Amino acid sequence: APLQSRNTFGVAATAPVLVEVADSAALPALLADREFGERLSLVLGGGSNLLFAGNPEGVVLALTGKRVTHVDDVPTEAGVRTIVRADAGVEWHDFVMRTLRHGFAGLENLALIPGTVGAAPIQNIGAYGAEVREFIHAVEAFEPATGLVQRFDAPGCGFSYRDSLFKQQPDRYIVTAVEFALSRVPALKLDYAGIREELDSMGVASPLPRHVADAVIAIRRRKLPDPAVIGNAGSFFKNPIVAVAQADALKAEHDALPVFRGNDDSTRKLSAAWLIDQCGWKGHRDGDAGVAATHALVLVNHGQATGAQLLALARRIADSVRRRFGVVLEPEPRVIGATW
Ligand code: EPU
Repeated sequence: APLQSRNTFGVAATAPVLVEVADSAALPALLADREFGERLSLVLGGGSNLLFAGNPEGVVLALTGKRVTHVDDVPTEAGVRTIVRADAGVEWHDFVMRTLRHGFAGLENLALIPGTVGAAPIQNIGAYGAEVREFIHAVEAFEPATGLVQRFDAPGCGFSYRDSLFKQQPDRYIVTAVEFALSRVPALKLDYAGIREELDSMGVASPLPRHVADAVIAIRRRKLPDPAVIGNAGSFFKNPIVAVAQADALKAEHDALPVFRGNDDSTRKLSAAWLIDQCGWKGHRDGDAGVAATHALVLVNHGQATGAQLLALARRIADSVRRRFGVVLEPEPRVIGATW
Protein backbone atom coordinates (compact mmCIF):
# COMPACT_ATOMS: atom_id res chain seq x y z
CA ALA A 1 0.00 0.00 0.00
CA PRO A 2 1.33 3.48 -0.83
CA LEU A 3 2.18 5.71 2.15
CA GLN A 4 2.99 8.97 0.33
CA SER A 5 -0.33 10.57 1.25
CA ARG A 6 -0.08 9.18 4.78
CA ASN A 7 3.04 11.08 5.83
CA THR A 8 3.14 14.87 6.00
CA PHE A 9 6.63 14.99 4.45
CA GLY A 10 4.90 13.55 1.39
CA VAL A 11 7.78 11.19 0.64
CA ALA A 12 7.20 7.99 -1.27
CA ALA A 13 7.12 4.77 0.74
CA THR A 14 5.24 1.50 0.57
CA ALA A 15 3.88 -0.81 3.24
CA PRO A 16 3.73 -4.53 2.49
CA VAL A 17 0.38 -4.58 4.31
CA LEU A 18 -1.73 -1.73 5.66
CA VAL A 19 -4.55 -2.56 8.09
CA GLU A 20 -7.12 -0.02 9.20
CA VAL A 21 -8.93 -0.78 12.43
CA ALA A 22 -11.96 1.31 13.41
CA ASP A 23 -12.78 -0.43 16.68
CA SER A 24 -9.81 -1.07 18.95
CA ALA A 25 -11.78 -3.93 20.54
CA ALA A 26 -10.80 -5.87 17.41
CA LEU A 27 -7.06 -5.54 18.16
CA PRO A 28 -6.60 -8.57 20.46
CA ALA A 29 -8.05 -10.99 17.92
CA LEU A 30 -6.26 -9.32 15.01
CA LEU A 31 -2.85 -9.34 16.66
CA ALA A 32 -3.29 -12.85 18.02
CA ASP A 33 -3.36 -13.88 14.37
CA ARG A 34 0.30 -14.59 13.67
CA GLU A 35 0.18 -13.22 10.19
CA PHE A 36 -0.41 -9.77 11.66
CA GLY A 37 0.90 -9.96 15.20
CA GLU A 38 4.38 -11.14 14.38
CA ARG A 39 4.77 -8.81 11.45
CA LEU A 40 3.51 -5.59 13.03
CA SER A 41 6.11 -2.95 12.30
CA LEU A 42 4.46 0.43 12.70
CA VAL A 43 1.36 2.10 14.11
CA LEU A 44 0.56 5.07 11.93
CA GLY A 45 -1.37 8.11 13.16
CA GLY A 46 -1.48 11.29 11.08
CA GLY A 47 2.03 10.58 9.76
CA SER A 48 3.12 14.02 10.93
CA ASN A 49 5.99 12.90 13.09
CA LEU A 50 7.60 10.34 10.84
CA LEU A 51 10.30 10.24 8.22
CA PHE A 52 10.23 7.28 5.87
CA ALA A 53 13.93 6.90 5.03
CA GLY A 54 13.00 3.43 3.81
CA ASN A 55 9.94 1.22 3.68
CA PRO A 56 8.45 -0.33 6.80
CA GLU A 57 9.16 -4.05 6.67
CA GLY A 58 5.96 -5.48 8.04
CA VAL A 59 2.36 -4.64 8.77
CA VAL A 60 1.41 -0.99 9.17
CA LEU A 61 -1.60 -0.43 11.40
CA ALA A 62 -3.80 2.66 11.38
CA LEU A 63 -6.48 3.19 14.03
CA THR A 64 -9.40 5.05 12.53
CA GLY A 65 -11.80 5.14 15.50
CA LYS A 66 -13.22 8.63 16.00
CA ARG A 67 -15.49 8.48 19.03
CA VAL A 68 -15.41 11.35 21.51
CA THR A 69 -17.31 11.05 24.79
CA HIS A 70 -17.77 13.12 27.90
CA VAL A 71 -16.98 10.70 30.70
CA ASP A 72 -17.35 12.44 34.01
CA ASP A 73 -16.72 15.47 36.17
CA VAL A 74 -14.25 14.74 38.94
CA PRO A 75 -13.06 16.85 41.88
CA THR A 76 -9.28 17.33 42.13
CA GLU A 77 -7.03 19.43 44.33
CA ALA A 78 -6.92 21.99 41.54
CA GLY A 79 -10.73 22.12 41.15
CA VAL A 80 -13.35 20.21 39.17
CA ARG A 81 -12.05 18.57 36.00
CA THR A 82 -14.15 17.35 33.10
CA ILE A 83 -12.91 14.07 31.69
CA VAL A 84 -13.25 13.80 27.92
CA ARG A 85 -12.31 10.58 26.20
CA ALA A 86 -11.28 10.37 22.54
CA ASP A 87 -10.35 7.47 20.29
CA ALA A 88 -6.79 7.42 18.95
CA GLY A 89 -7.96 8.15 15.40
CA VAL A 90 -9.54 11.55 16.11
CA GLU A 91 -7.76 14.46 14.41
CA TRP A 92 -5.94 16.42 17.11
CA HIS A 93 -6.85 19.92 15.95
CA ASP A 94 -10.52 19.01 15.43
CA PHE A 95 -10.56 17.63 18.95
CA VAL A 96 -9.02 20.80 20.42
CA MET A 97 -11.59 23.02 18.69
CA ARG A 98 -14.44 20.75 19.71
CA THR A 99 -13.47 20.86 23.40
CA LEU A 100 -13.28 24.67 23.21
CA ARG A 101 -16.72 24.89 21.55
CA HIS A 102 -18.11 22.88 24.46
CA GLY A 103 -16.59 25.31 26.94
CA PHE A 104 -13.81 23.04 28.16
CA ALA A 105 -10.55 24.95 28.55
CA GLY A 106 -7.00 23.67 28.55
CA LEU A 107 -5.93 22.64 25.07
CA GLU A 108 -6.09 26.13 23.47
CA ASN A 109 -2.29 26.60 23.24
CA LEU A 110 -2.03 23.28 21.40
CA ALA A 111 -4.28 24.27 18.47
CA LEU A 112 -3.29 23.41 14.90
CA ILE A 113 -0.72 20.77 15.79
CA PRO A 114 -0.94 18.15 13.03
CA GLY A 115 -1.61 14.52 13.90
CA THR A 116 -4.03 12.41 15.88
CA VAL A 117 -5.17 12.11 19.49
CA GLY A 118 -3.42 8.73 19.76
CA ALA A 119 -0.07 10.24 18.81
CA ALA A 120 -0.34 13.19 21.21
CA PRO A 121 0.87 11.42 24.38
CA ILE A 122 3.60 9.48 22.58
CA GLN A 123 5.88 12.46 22.14
CA ASN A 124 4.05 14.63 24.70
CA ILE A 125 3.20 17.26 22.10
CA GLY A 126 3.80 20.80 23.24
CA ALA A 127 3.64 24.35 21.97
CA TYR A 128 3.30 27.96 23.13
CA GLY A 129 3.94 27.26 26.79
CA ALA A 130 1.81 24.12 27.20
CA GLU A 131 2.43 20.39 27.01
CA VAL A 132 -0.29 17.79 26.58
CA ARG A 133 0.89 15.92 29.70
CA GLU A 134 -0.71 18.65 31.84
CA PHE A 135 -4.15 17.66 30.52
CA ILE A 136 -3.85 13.90 30.32
CA HIS A 137 -6.01 11.97 32.74
CA ALA A 138 -5.28 8.49 31.37
CA VAL A 139 -3.90 6.73 28.32
CA GLU A 140 -5.33 3.42 27.22
CA ALA A 141 -3.05 1.17 25.21
CA PHE A 142 -3.09 -2.36 23.90
CA GLU A 143 0.05 -4.40 24.54
CA PRO A 144 0.39 -7.05 21.81
CA ALA A 145 3.00 -9.07 23.74
CA THR A 146 0.59 -9.75 26.61
CA GLY A 147 -2.72 -9.30 24.81
CA LEU A 148 -3.78 -6.89 27.55
CA VAL A 149 -5.37 -3.47 27.44
CA GLN A 150 -3.32 -1.32 29.84
CA ARG A 151 -4.44 1.90 31.45
CA PHE A 152 -1.85 4.48 32.49
CA ASP A 153 -2.52 7.51 34.65
CA ALA A 154 -0.45 10.62 33.83
CA PRO A 155 2.45 9.86 36.21
CA GLY A 156 2.52 6.32 34.80
CA CYS A 157 3.19 7.65 31.29
CA GLY A 158 6.72 8.80 32.15
CA PHE A 159 6.30 12.16 30.45
CA SER A 160 9.09 14.63 29.92
CA TYR A 161 9.92 17.15 27.17
CA ARG A 162 8.90 15.46 23.85
CA ASP A 163 9.16 12.07 25.52
CA SER A 164 7.14 9.34 27.23
CA LEU A 165 7.16 5.68 28.11
CA PHE A 166 5.46 5.02 24.76
CA LYS A 167 8.23 6.78 22.84
CA GLN A 168 10.96 5.06 24.86
CA GLN A 169 9.57 1.64 23.93
CA PRO A 170 8.36 2.34 20.41
CA ASP A 171 6.54 -0.84 19.50
CA ARG A 172 5.43 -2.10 22.87
CA TYR A 173 2.08 -0.33 23.15
CA ILE A 174 -0.63 0.69 20.74
CA VAL A 175 -2.40 3.76 22.11
CA THR A 176 -6.12 3.20 21.55
CA ALA A 177 -7.76 6.08 23.46
CA VAL A 178 -6.83 9.05 25.60
CA GLU A 179 -8.76 10.69 28.43
CA PHE A 180 -8.18 14.38 29.01
CA ALA A 181 -8.83 16.36 32.19
CA LEU A 182 -10.16 19.75 31.14
CA SER A 183 -11.75 22.59 33.04
CA ARG A 184 -14.76 24.84 32.66
CA VAL A 185 -12.70 27.54 34.36
CA PRO A 186 -9.93 28.81 32.04
CA ALA A 187 -6.36 29.16 33.30
CA LEU A 188 -4.86 30.95 30.32
CA LYS A 189 -1.18 30.70 29.51
CA LEU A 190 -0.21 33.88 27.68
CA ASP A 191 3.46 34.15 28.52
CA TYR A 192 5.03 32.44 25.51
CA ALA A 193 6.62 35.04 23.27
CA GLY A 194 4.19 36.45 20.73
CA ILE A 195 0.83 35.40 22.22
CA ARG A 196 -0.03 38.68 23.96
CA GLU A 197 1.11 40.67 20.91
CA GLU A 198 -1.08 38.54 18.68
CA LEU A 199 -4.12 39.00 20.95
CA ASP A 200 -3.47 42.76 20.95
CA SER A 201 -3.30 42.87 17.19
CA MET A 202 -6.57 40.91 17.06
CA GLY A 203 -8.08 43.64 19.26
CA VAL A 204 -8.86 41.18 22.08
CA ALA A 205 -8.50 42.77 25.51
CA SER A 206 -10.07 40.04 27.71
CA PRO A 207 -9.17 36.77 26.01
CA LEU A 208 -11.20 33.57 26.23
CA PRO A 209 -9.60 30.18 25.48
CA ARG A 210 -10.88 30.29 21.89
CA HIS A 211 -9.11 33.62 21.36
CA VAL A 212 -5.87 32.08 22.56
CA ALA A 213 -6.40 29.22 20.09
CA ASP A 214 -7.00 31.78 17.33
CA ALA A 215 -3.80 33.61 18.26
CA VAL A 216 -1.79 30.37 18.26
CA ILE A 217 -3.30 29.42 14.90
CA ALA A 218 -2.31 32.78 13.42
CA ILE A 219 1.26 32.55 14.74
CA ARG A 220 1.66 28.96 13.51
CA ARG A 221 0.31 29.86 10.07
CA ARG A 222 2.91 32.62 9.77
CA LYS A 223 5.90 30.67 11.05
CA LEU A 224 5.35 27.05 10.10
CA PRO A 225 4.85 25.78 6.56
CA ASP A 226 1.46 24.10 6.02
CA PRO A 227 2.08 20.39 5.33
CA ALA A 228 -0.84 20.44 2.89
CA VAL A 229 1.16 22.92 0.78
CA ILE A 230 4.78 21.93 1.40
CA GLY A 231 5.78 18.62 2.95
CA ASN A 232 7.21 18.82 6.48
CA ALA A 233 6.97 17.26 9.92
CA GLY A 234 7.17 20.38 12.08
CA SER A 235 10.33 20.72 14.13
CA PHE A 236 12.80 18.16 12.83
CA PHE A 237 15.05 18.35 15.90
CA LYS A 238 14.25 18.46 19.58
CA ASN A 239 15.49 21.47 21.48
CA PRO A 240 18.64 20.01 23.10
CA ILE A 241 18.65 19.56 26.86
CA VAL A 242 22.10 20.15 28.32
CA ALA A 243 23.76 20.56 31.72
CA VAL A 244 23.51 24.02 33.27
CA ALA A 245 27.31 24.45 33.02
CA GLN A 246 27.29 23.84 29.26
CA ALA A 247 24.38 26.24 28.79
CA ASP A 248 26.16 28.91 30.86
CA ALA A 249 29.37 28.49 28.85
CA LEU A 250 27.53 28.79 25.53
CA LYS A 251 25.54 31.77 26.74
CA ALA A 252 28.75 33.53 27.82
CA GLU A 253 30.05 33.19 24.29
CA HIS A 254 26.75 33.76 22.44
CA ASP A 255 24.66 36.30 24.27
CA ALA A 256 21.67 35.97 21.92
CA LEU A 257 21.28 32.19 22.38
CA PRO A 258 17.77 31.50 23.76
CA VAL A 259 18.04 29.32 26.91
CA PHE A 260 15.08 27.87 28.80
CA ARG A 261 14.59 25.65 31.85
CA GLY A 262 15.07 21.94 31.07
CA ASN A 263 13.01 19.09 32.49
CA ASP A 264 14.12 20.23 35.94
CA ASP A 265 16.39 22.84 37.49
CA SER A 266 19.57 20.85 36.81
CA THR A 267 19.25 21.16 33.03
CA ARG A 268 18.67 23.81 30.40
CA LYS A 269 16.91 23.63 27.06
CA LEU A 270 18.60 25.42 24.15
CA SER A 271 16.92 26.68 21.00
CA ALA A 272 17.82 24.25 18.21
CA ALA A 273 16.36 26.71 15.68
CA TRP A 274 18.79 29.41 16.79
CA LEU A 275 21.82 27.08 16.63
CA ILE A 276 20.84 25.87 13.14
CA ASP A 277 20.08 29.40 11.98
CA GLN A 278 23.55 30.56 13.09
CA CYS A 279 25.06 27.85 10.91
CA GLY A 280 23.33 29.46 7.94
CA TRP A 281 20.82 26.75 7.07
CA LYS A 282 17.54 28.71 6.92
CA GLY A 283 16.14 28.52 3.40
CA HIS A 284 18.95 26.16 2.28
CA ARG A 285 18.05 23.67 -0.42
CA ASP A 286 19.68 20.44 -1.69
CA GLY A 287 17.48 19.56 -4.63
CA ASP A 288 14.01 19.15 -3.22
CA ALA A 289 15.19 18.59 0.37
CA GLY A 290 15.42 21.89 2.21
CA VAL A 291 15.12 23.97 5.34
CA ALA A 292 12.06 26.20 5.63
CA ALA A 293 12.68 29.86 4.83
CA THR A 294 10.53 30.88 7.81
CA HIS A 295 11.94 28.50 10.45
CA ALA A 296 15.37 26.91 10.72
CA LEU A 297 14.05 23.91 12.68
CA VAL A 298 11.70 22.71 9.96
CA LEU A 299 12.90 20.48 7.12
CA VAL A 300 10.77 20.65 4.01
CA ASN A 301 10.13 18.57 0.90
CA HIS A 302 9.89 20.93 -2.06
CA GLY A 303 8.31 18.18 -4.16
CA GLN A 304 10.18 15.02 -5.01
CA ALA A 305 12.65 14.66 -2.13
CA THR A 306 13.14 11.14 -0.83
CA GLY A 307 13.26 10.30 2.83
CA ALA A 308 16.93 9.36 2.42
CA GLN A 309 17.72 12.82 0.97
CA LEU A 310 15.94 14.54 3.84
CA LEU A 311 17.80 12.35 6.32
CA ALA A 312 21.15 13.17 4.66
CA LEU A 313 20.40 16.89 4.94
CA ALA A 314 19.38 16.46 8.60
CA ARG A 315 22.69 14.73 9.32
CA ARG A 316 24.68 17.56 7.73
CA ILE A 317 22.76 20.10 9.81
CA ALA A 318 23.34 18.18 13.04
CA ASP A 319 27.06 17.78 12.18
CA SER A 320 27.49 21.49 11.59
CA VAL A 321 25.84 22.36 14.91
CA ARG A 322 27.98 19.82 16.74
CA ARG A 323 31.18 21.19 15.20
CA ARG A 324 30.37 24.83 15.79
CA PHE A 325 28.69 24.66 19.22
CA GLY A 326 29.54 21.21 20.61
CA VAL A 327 25.80 20.51 20.94
CA VAL A 328 24.27 17.22 19.80
CA LEU A 329 20.90 17.46 18.06
CA GLU A 330 18.45 14.58 17.96
CA PRO A 331 15.59 14.18 15.53
CA GLU A 332 12.11 14.69 16.86
CA PRO A 333 10.24 12.55 14.30
CA ARG A 334 10.54 8.81 14.28
CA VAL A 335 12.86 7.72 11.47
CA ILE A 336 11.70 4.53 9.71
CA GLY A 337 14.03 2.37 7.61
CA ALA A 338 17.29 3.87 8.87
CA THR A 339 19.01 4.49 12.16
CA TRP A 340 19.90 8.02 13.13
N1 EPU B 1 14.70 31.06 16.13
C1 EPU B 1 15.76 31.35 15.32
N2 EPU B 1 15.65 31.08 13.98
C2 EPU B 1 14.53 30.55 13.44
C3 EPU B 1 13.42 30.26 14.27
C4 EPU B 1 13.54 30.51 15.62
O1 EPU B 1 16.79 31.82 15.76
O2 EPU B 1 14.51 30.32 12.22
C5 EPU B 1 14.84 31.31 17.57
C6 EPU B 1 14.15 32.58 18.00
O3 EPU B 1 15.00 33.23 18.90
C7 EPU B 1 12.91 32.10 18.72
C8 EPU B 1 13.37 30.76 19.28
O4 EPU B 1 14.26 30.25 18.31
O5 EPU B 1 12.56 32.96 19.73
C9 EPU B 1 12.22 29.79 19.50
O6 EPU B 1 11.47 29.64 18.29
P1 EPU B 1 9.96 29.12 18.33
O7 EPU B 1 9.15 29.99 19.23
O8 EPU B 1 9.50 28.95 16.95
O9 EPU B 1 10.05 27.73 19.08
P2 EPU B 1 10.98 26.43 18.86
O10 EPU B 1 11.69 26.20 20.13
O11 EPU B 1 11.80 26.52 17.64
C10 EPU B 1 9.17 24.80 19.79
C11 EPU B 1 8.55 23.51 19.40
C12 EPU B 1 7.49 23.73 18.34
C13 EPU B 1 6.44 24.69 18.89
C14 EPU B 1 7.13 25.98 19.27
C15 EPU B 1 6.20 26.97 19.91
C16 EPU B 1 10.26 21.81 19.71
C17 EPU B 1 11.23 20.88 19.06
N3 EPU B 1 9.56 22.60 18.90
O12 EPU B 1 9.88 25.30 18.66
O13 EPU B 1 6.86 22.48 18.09
O14 EPU B 1 5.43 24.95 17.93
O15 EPU B 1 8.17 25.70 20.23
O16 EPU B 1 5.92 26.58 21.20
O17 EPU B 1 10.15 21.81 20.94
C18 EPU B 1 7.05 20.55 16.72
O18 EPU B 1 7.35 19.95 17.74
O19 EPU B 1 6.95 19.98 15.61
C19 EPU B 1 6.81 21.99 16.81
C20 EPU B 1 6.55 22.73 15.74
